[in-house]
Amino acid sequence: MLNATYPKYDEDYLPLNLSKRISANEIRSSKPKDIPSPSLPKNVLIKQQSNITNTSAEFRLSSETLLQWSNLTVCKESDNQVLLNGLNGEVYNNHSLAIMGSSGAGKTTLLNYLSKKMATPGLKKTLGDITLAVNGKNETKHMNEISAFVTQDDILFENLTPRELLHFAADIKLTTKTAEEKNTQIENILVSLGLEDNADTKVGSVLNKGISGGERKRAAIAYELITEPMILFLDEPTSGLDSTSSYKIVDLICDEARRKGRIVIFTIHQPNAEVFKLFDNFLLMAKGGRTIYNGNAHEAIEYFNNLNFPCPKKKNPAEYFIQIISNTPVLHSEENLDEQKIRDEEYHRTLEFFEGNAKKQEILTDLSQLEPSIGQIIKVKNSFFTELGILMSRNRLLVQREPNAFYVRMFQSLLFALMILIIFFRISNGNDAVRDRTGCLIFVMNLMFSMNFNTPLVSFTHEKVHFYKEQDNNMYRITTYFLSKASAEIVIQFLLSIIVWGFVYFPCGLNTYSYENSLWFTLTVFLFGYSCVAMAYLFSVLIDRMELVPTMFPLLIFSQMMTSGYFVNIKNIPYWFYPFKYISLFRYSYQALAYNEFDHNTDLDCNDPKVCIIPTVDFEESKELSVLLLFLIAIANNIATCVVLKVKAYLNSRRK
Ligand SMILES: Nc1ncnc2c1ncn2[C@@H]1O[C@H](COP(=O)(O)OP(=O)(O)OP(=O)(O)O)[C@@H](O)[C@H]1O
Ligand SMILES: [Mg+2]
Repeated sequence: MLNATYPKYDEDYLPLNLSKRISANEIRSSKPKDIPSPSLPKNVLIKQQSNITNTSAEFRLSSETLLQWSNLTVCKESDNQVLLNGLNGEVYNNHSLAIMGSSGAGKTTLLNYLSKKMATPGLKKTLGDITLAVNGKNETKHMNEISAFVTQDDILFENLTPRELLHFAADIKLTTKTAEEKNTQIENILVSLGLEDNADTKVGSVLNKGISGGERKRAAIAYELITEPMILFLDEPTSGLDSTSSYKIVDLICDEARRKGRIVIFTIHQPNAEVFKLFDNFLLMAKGGRTIYNGNAHEAIEYFNNLNFPCPKKKNPAEYFIQIISNTPVLHSEENLDEQKIRDEEYHRTLEFFEGNAKKQEILTDLSQLEPSIGQIIKVKNSFFTELGILMSRNRLLVQREPNAFYVRMFQSLLFALMILIIFFRISNGNDAVRDRTGCLIFVMNLMFSMNFNTPLVSFTHEKVHFYKEQDNNMYRITTYFLSKASAEIVIQFLLSIIVWGFVYFPCGLNTYSYENSLWFTLTVFLFGYSCVAMAYLFSVLIDRMELVPTMFPLLIFSQMMTSGYFVNIKNIPYWFYPFKYISLFRYSYQALAYNEFDHNTDLDCNDPKVCIIPTVDFEESKELSVLLLFLIAIANNIATCVVLKVKAYLNSRRK
């Protein structure tokens, strides 16, 4: 297959008519007439500049979009191994580009760099430029706002259904559409992706079965398509799909480009001949990010034919192309070493020949020739409260559907409260009063801590992945996201506090001096629970690697408990341990609960001064101040979490 004689490069065999594609104006005029004028998605508007006309108007204009990359060279940081070897290319709106190549050729790496959506740790761009020109103006910085990326591993909330996911994305992104328009659009996308029958089945995951793998893939595509991105990147959208579904998907995404004026760039493995016919532009890559073919897909067969690599008539061209750029290894043995060497040399010569030919033809639009037209991209966002409402309603669904986050938490706290009730029922007022009451309060704190630290920590650690992805897509503000989470937690804390109050406070016979005591008790329990959740969120965003959590967790808890004041007198701890004392949720909570219990408790009847030492004598803050500090620490933790999220989202975007 590879021992062909290489003809000289000939201008007539140019793919994609690239040699003729020199100026943007020529490209414009070469567009088919029946293609409607490309338009921006509704949520991205072009704002007219004030010195033109109609200063306050924000309206949609037809736009010419061009994504171009030139001499894009990417290496591994560790050993400078080249992964993308000086790639050139460009795609105009109304066009799609299919990227094919052997596994490890660098297709995903190219998409990651073009989209600027995925972090690429361990890689560095050594050369090259990526430019997004909209209406002749460099708008590369707006890439995130106007593009979407369907990753190979779908990142979707497993407890939501495809329809709920689409509603959320439409509500967040399609800010200028009416509810009816959004519904129609959602139903159309569900039908066009064949999801209408399973639109109300939850997405699920490996352990939590929901829709099928192929349906999940289609749901991920629908989730991005509904937001009407100007540029859509898809990494292997057809993997795991049968040939009919693959055909439908490729047909749909190429059609999205043709009819709706988008740029669609996707990688694909082994398309069949029918799917290959749907391609518009086609980039074939070999290992090391080398360009083998870059041009019009319909001219690829003729191109390789002219290079003396004719595709057999009955063969699937996509399969043939992969075959001619693959190096087939021979079985490893002493005798085979020479044969392998010859094959390797031949393989490298073939690749060099292909790459040389392909490179000679790569002529890109001269960006300086583009005529900038008026206007700038601005993003229309939902109002703060609309966005908060949308996020709150998604959060409500997530909390309801995540058994650990709600029902199991409620059930466990009921069981835990019942155990406290059984042990401390009608607690002693005599000589054991202090020990028993203190023990009861400590168990209440342990109940609230165990219900409010681990579950939020685990669930938020999983949810962070979605958060970062949605931040990449500029979907919402960090503050609204966090407020929506906090509001869901406040409801949970309220229910938990009521459970503890109902099952512990009166049945166990805690201080009934006045009704205010039971209110202070409930308020302290509520704030302590919420502070634990806030601490869990902060812990989760500070530690990215889930496997480190079990190691770090005991350190955190020990430092909090040791400085709580109930195991050791707070005055006896070393002064360098004081910082932990000041941030100990357990200490403020214990102080507030103990003051509440022992101050003015007229029921107490302990007469042995050796066992009846009231713990409050060593406390440093009053009940009211302790409760206030508990509240302030919770707020400080929330603010710190927002800041860390913001910084990490920013650093993630810088790394791309
Ligand atoms: N962050 C990274 N650090 C080190 N090497 C990387 C990194 N990302 C990609 N690579 C290497 O770059 C090469 C290209 O990877 P890439 O994922 O782009 O291939 P691909 O063409 O998408 O393959 P596939 O078809 O199997 O998905 C591979 O050899 C891979 O090991
Ligand atoms: Mg890949």
